[in-house]
Amino acid sequence: MQKLLWAFFVAVAALASAAGRSSDAQTRTADNAVVRIFRDRILPIVRSDRPSSCTECHLAGVDLRQFVSDDPYATLAALVAQGWVDPDRPRKSRLLQLITRRPDKEDPMMARVRKAEYEAFLAWIEAAARDPLARRVRPETVRIGIELPPEVIRHARKDRVLQAFVDTIWPEVGRCISCHAADRNQRLVAKWGDHISWVQPHDPEETLRRCVANGLIDTEQPEKSLLLLKPLGEVEHGGGPKFVRGSRADKAFRRFLSDYAATVTGRYRSAHDLPPIPGEVLRPTHQHLRIRGIPRRWAGRLMRVDLYRWQGDGWSRWRWATADNPVTRRGVWQSLVMATAPRGSKRAAELGSHPDLPAGRYLVRIFIDRSGRLEKDRDAELGPEDLVAEVELRGPWPPGYWPPKILRFPVRHPGGQVRP
Ligand code: HEC
Ligand code: HEC
Repeated sequence: MQKLLWAFFVAVAALASAAGRSSDAQTRTADNAVVRIFRDRILPIVRSDRPSSCTECHLAGVDLRQFVSDDPYATLAALVAQGWVDPDRPRKSRLLQLITRRPDKEDPMMARVRKAEYEAFLAWIEAAARDPLARRVRPETVRIGIELPPEVIRHARKDRVLQAFVDTIWPEVGRCISCHAADRNQRLVAKWGDHISWVQPHDPEETLRRCVANGLIDTEQPEKSLLLLKPLGEVEHGGGPKFVRGSRADKAFRRFLSDYAATVTGRYRSAHDLPPIPGEVLRPTHQHLRIRGIPRRWAGRLMRVDLYRWQGDGWSRWRWATADNPVTRRGVWQSLVMATAPRGSKRAAELGSHPDLPAGRYLVRIFIDRSGRLEKDRDAELGPEDLVAEVELRGPWPPGYWPPKILRFPVRHPGGQVRP
């Protein structure tokens, strides 16, 4: 009798647990709200080719897709476990807060994408909040969430990428603007088409947007970007060569292009992969410098000039300005001058609005790439061994291309003769 009773209990227990399992399975696969909203509204968003609203500010590194797996309940459990979704206060979920972020100038198309994302995720989270099963699933079954470290996510933010553009290519765009800005190039546009107007004066953001939209940046092989090959004259360029290999502009363009390419293709995985931030900021002045009487043996060589300002008791520790260009066949060198300052310094902050050099005394230090090594080793810098002469500059220095400030190349190096 006891045996019989025991068998009976076991049978009932087994039945009950089978029923429980099948009801779980049913809720999971049946047409309940959590599954339906996931299938009909969430999956289409994350599986479409259309960029998510995050891309309006993040060029890479984060995406709504990273927050969703194939399984609605496992996804939810993981989101709750990682703190992205708050089942007790659905509207306060961090994921929804990210979706509601919008830039000041919101793109109308993105505004629609954002609204659809928000409504779908809110509906889904609210349905989950009402569904007791949602609270029972264990999260360890799926991997979702942000994988990259915050440094990399930060680096790939659009405002950071734009800042990198402003620090590298934008200061050099003065060399391009006369042919590539729509307010000055109508004759060229008639011949070549509107696409050559990729510079928008005073608007680096729009200029970068056009460079990308017009395909001037090659994200697979950044060194092959038209934005670099054209001004180098390494492919035919209607404007001829604008700068040479190894020059400051060459370095600045290449720096931006390779960084941009690595960012948007997701090649940066850890903080160590990121390029170091340059210690100096650089902004174009409106002042031009010309140096005459340079020995003809240096014709065609890249020459860099650094200016140090007299500060009452000595020359400034940091250079105040720099400029580079090749020496012409007639032994003349001329360039627009770039103001420079250590990053983070007071002067660096002022350069944006007041880049021009005040009148005063400057020490002009002249470096020449006598062996042409920078042509091959494009990232190398000219150093003390390339210093060939020094000369002092004084007096007023009005802005404008003409007349430039004119100096004669000194016949003596400070330590003796001009270097051979
Ligand atoms: C309006 C611009 C904007 C949008 C749109 C935007 N973000 Fe952000 N995001 C930022 C800014 C700015 C930061 C850094 C400052 C902060 O955390 O508030 C940031 C930081 C982050 C971080 C933290 C990384 C860090 O710096 O520590 C993550 C993760 C993130 N966003 C994910 C997303 C996701 C996912 C989306 C889309 C659903 C998104 N963001 C949409 C501007 C935006
Ligand atoms: C004297 C005029 C002139 C100057 C200055 C000039 N360019 Fe050009 N550039 C042209 C002309 C004309 C074309 C169209 C023909 C061609 O593709 O070479 C062109 C084309 C280009 C293109 C291809 C655009 C496209 O959509 O196909 C790029 C990129 C470019 N230039 C970059 C530069 C850069 C960078 C600078 C400054 C460092 C510069 N150019 C300075 C005249 C100029």
